[in-house]
Amino acid sequence: MVIAIDGPAASGKGTLAKRLAAHYGLPHLDTGLLYRAVALTLLDAGFPLDDERAAARAAEALIADRLADPRLRERAMGEAASRISAVPAVRAALLAWQQRFAGNAVGAVLDGRDIGTVVCPDARVKLFITAAPEERARRRHRELADRGETATFDVILADIKARDARDASRATAPLKAAADAVVLDTTELDADEAFEAARAVVERAI
Ligand code: C5P
Repeated sequence: MVIAIDGPAASGKGTLAKRLAAHYGLPHLDTGLLYRAVALTLLDAGFPLDDERAAARAAEALIADRLADPRLRERAMGEAASRISAVPAVRAALLAWQQRFAGNAVGAVLDGRDIGTVVCPDARVKLFITAAPEERARRRHRELADRGETATFDVILADIKARDARDASRATAPLKAAADAVVLDTTELDADEAFEAARAVVERAI
């Protein structure tokens, strides 16, 4: 069983994906980490983010070990990931990676931007998680503060809006709900309520 979860930055899709994976005993892949890891590899090697060939090489050579680096969670890395994720050769290299993960015998939960549309178009369950930008900024602000990052609410909100616009307008695999995805707006839901709503969608599909 493959569960595809897409949505914009800080919509709660990651938390939801983790909980669904634990509940159904499935492996989970946060695909944003792949793009973040490519961006970090590039920056660590001293390449500018607009070097598309270096970005493609980094994506082709990506190894799972890199996904554990705590720097991947930093705010700047989300921004950097969003920039290199518009490069078609980066997306092509990471597509193979993600499809290998999803193709294992038991199934998987993947969360990202194009899972239901491009990576796993045949997924049994497709969810598109969304929430008002202000609510997403509030959640991200709290999360970053817990990790000791000091960005203001306004900076985070501007960040989120810019990232949504870039992710939704790129030519290759833009952020959008698959035609057969169930859209779940979590603006008014806490994590438990969002989980229950998502679980109900999965239960209907299996
Ligand atoms: O989800 P997260 O914030 O970690 O993603 C970082 C960036 O990686 C996103 O803004 C998006 O540009 C890119 N991404 C993507 N496709 C995915 C997952 C993430 O383009 N499936």
